[in-house]
Amino acid sequence: MAIIAPSLLSADFLHLERDCEMLNNSKADWFHIDIMDGRFVPNISFGPMITSSICRSTKKYCDVHLMIQEPENYVEAFAKAGANNITVHLEACTHLHRNIQQIKSLGVHAGVAINPHTPVSSLEHIISEIDLVCLMSVNPGFGGQKFIPETIQKISLLRKMIDDKSLSVHIEIDGGVTLENAASIIHAGADVLVAGNTVFASNNPTDTIALLKNI
Ligand code: DX5
Ligand code: ZN
Repeated sequence: MAIIAPSLLSADFLHLERDCEMLNNSKADWFHIDIMDGRFVPNISFGPMITSSICRSTKKYCDVHLMIQEPENYVEAFAKAGANNITVHLEACTHLHRNIQQIKSLGVHAGVAINPHTPVSSLEHIISEIDLVCLMSVNPGFGGQKFIPETIQKISLLRKMIDDKSLSVHIEIDGGVTLENAASIIHAGADVLVAGNTVFASNNPTDTIALLKNI
């Protein structure tokens, strides 16, 4: 069974406590927390203060996805806010290895995200240092976009890279995950599904999470 990580980006921010409670009482495994800076991506979400409130609302694993430039200036704040994992974008990090070392030195898990155009092979020399790869299956910046089908091939390539090296790195798929495409994503080798719109725009988010979990 895959790890289900609903994205709070699609939550109702006027009722954030209610939505966090809903996730706490659901089969969701992780909270996926999307941070956007208006520079790396063309949108701005929220920062460490709201992240801290979200993390304090739950005992579940808090997975923080930094879609920001110069993440080294902020990872400490997000670790203090309660992140269990911090993911940075390969495209935003000139010294990615140093960024990963910094995250791990703060006692949290480290992830690397790659955009749809970035080849899986670019992870070859960092994969053994990290806990998670986030394959973006949409262009980052907004919830509710359509899954890019090419991602399925990238999942298979990444699964092979991880298995060939006998590593236990999570493969997380972020963007456009639906009840319809989740099975093919898992079948290709992913083990973490992020879902924003699919969960929060559904009539019954708790049931939708359970349906994703049972795939
Ligand atoms: C996109 C974010 C995603 C997003 C997923 O930039 O990283 O986590 O919230 O939303 P859906 O599932 O609606 O595509
Ligand atoms: Zn995300």
